[in-house]
Amino acid sequence: KILILDFGSQVSQLIARRVREQQVYCELHPFDVSDEFVRGFGAQGVILSGGPNSVYEADDWRAPQAVFELGVPVLGICYGMQTMASQLGGKVESSAKREFGYAEMRARGHSKLFEGIEDRVNAEGHGLLDVWMSHGDKVTEMPPGFGVIGSNESTPIAAMADESRCFYGVQFHPEVTHTIKGKEIIARFVHDICGCGHDWNMPGYIDEAVRKIREQVGDEEVILGLSGGVDSSVAAALIHRAIGDQLTCVFVDHGLLRLNEGRMVMEMFAGRLHARVVHVDATAQFMGHLNGVTDPEQKRKIIGREFVEVFQAEAQKLPNAKWLAQGTIYPDVIESGGAKSKKAHTIKSHHNVGGLPETLGLKLLEPLRDLFKDEVRELGVALGLPHDMVYRHPFPGPGLGVRILGEVKQEYADLLRRADAIFIDELRAAGWYDKTSQAFAVFLPVKSVGVMGDGRTYEYVVALRAVETQDFMTAHWAELPHSLLGKVSNRIINEVRGINRVVYDISGKPPATIEWE
Ligand code: XMP
Repeated sequence: KILILDFGSQVSQLIARRVREQQVYCELHPFDVSDEFVRGFGAQGVILSGGPNSVYEADDWRAPQAVFELGVPVLGICYGMQTMASQLGGKVESSAKREFGYAEMRARGHSKLFEGIEDRVNAEGHGLLDVWMSHGDKVTEMPPGFGVIGSNESTPIAAMADESRCFYGVQFHPEVTHTIKGKEIIARFVHDICGCGHDWNMPGYIDEAVRKIREQVGDEEVILGLSGGVDSSVAAALIHRAIGDQLTCVFVDHGLLRLNEGRMVMEMFAGRLHARVVHVDATAQFMGHLNGVTDPEQKRKIIGREFVEVFQAEAQKLPNAKWLAQGTIYPDVIESGGAKSKKAHTIKSHHNVGGLPETLGLKLLEPLRDLFKDEVRELGVALGLPHDMVYRHPFPGPGLGVRILGEVKQEYADLLRRADAIFIDELRAAGWYDKTSQAFAVFLPVKSVGVMGDGRTYEYVVALRAVETQDFMTAHWAELPHSLLGKVSNRIINEVRGINRVVYDISGKPPATIEWE
């Protein structure tokens, strides 16, 4: 396995994903873990990530010295290369010019890292690589034992190596897709240089996870809050595979789910997987508490609070349950500080309605803690969940509660559900569902005038929102074809009585958020 030390780059997680794509297990940890941790980890290789600092300014942003004493290969990326250079006796200086974006790098000498990997060859027969750079500092003097293995005009030491110790530094980012041969370079490092096998794969993972869950849980019982979302669904399927009826899923329907979602969840888990599922229809309770409430934050709080209440009441009916299972995934662990250094700042704060209090007195079972989202999806498919369920757009915990502006009413929720289903149907039919990251309809509780047949109508408005994004922190509105939008609008207005106008949201994030509330 590979140890990745995170110096705070925005793309550190990508390094881990690229390594896992090579079927090699890896973990991402903050750079300031102890020497003992590094020695005890059992790494076959270490990767040092990029980061926003300068080695000559922040002298405590260093890799644990043990990294260089393990006797295993080390790859430093960007800041990781700079700190490697500086810690081993080289020199790093700020450049007059920041280098940002595509660059061409010439491979030099014979390095194991780049051997046979090139995008083009120049007139003198040197391999050329298209790489992605993003740096202000650069290595100006290599540590003893190192030689240049890649350079270009603005960065004479763009890559360096000490082949005898298998220490490599690259100033560019092999983990981003803009570096065309990045994947090959990562593969070369983890397989050929570190000697890792292809042993991280889904069937293997399932066997291992099932074994671990059985060992952890023994003959005790587990409860899990099933929301219909990808993470809790996959966790449920996995735990059910491991312990069958020792698992009880509690599916709280707050009445703010998408069309037929409740039925689909029940069909899948109770029907096809034969799992024990308690279906709680708490629509009336949620609607009652939301009555007259218009403030978005207030609405979120109420939905979150009621959810916990309903779940707790159900949990109390299962006194034998000793475990609470949750679909926590690796990015949640990283973002909530589990793998973040005290020094690196948290960028995104979490807002999950599923957050259950510790007062339940249950032990936590989180079998997806090591997995990235794409791996969770792959696992879901391998466990037999339907592709459409596993590759669904994200859906917020408060559900339609934040897509009905202002006061939430049953009538509004019913109209919105139908309009939303038509939109999603048409997106799928036109092949646009997978090209957008998230798409949905929003209910606007204002009436506008229309004409239908000979009559005048005075009905509600629905807004359509579709966005493309990598990380949901920034997003572009999707440029859906006008003909598709036209078709959706026609169908909604004709089929959903009570809505006579459809608009399309063309706001980016920032400044708009993805959800309207
Ligand atoms: P915003 O609206 O902040 O949304 O641009 C970013 C992403 O987060 C989702 N979202 C939520 N997810 N509970 C959730 O589980 C919430 O309260 C919540 N609010 C927003 C949103 O759907 C989008 O994917």
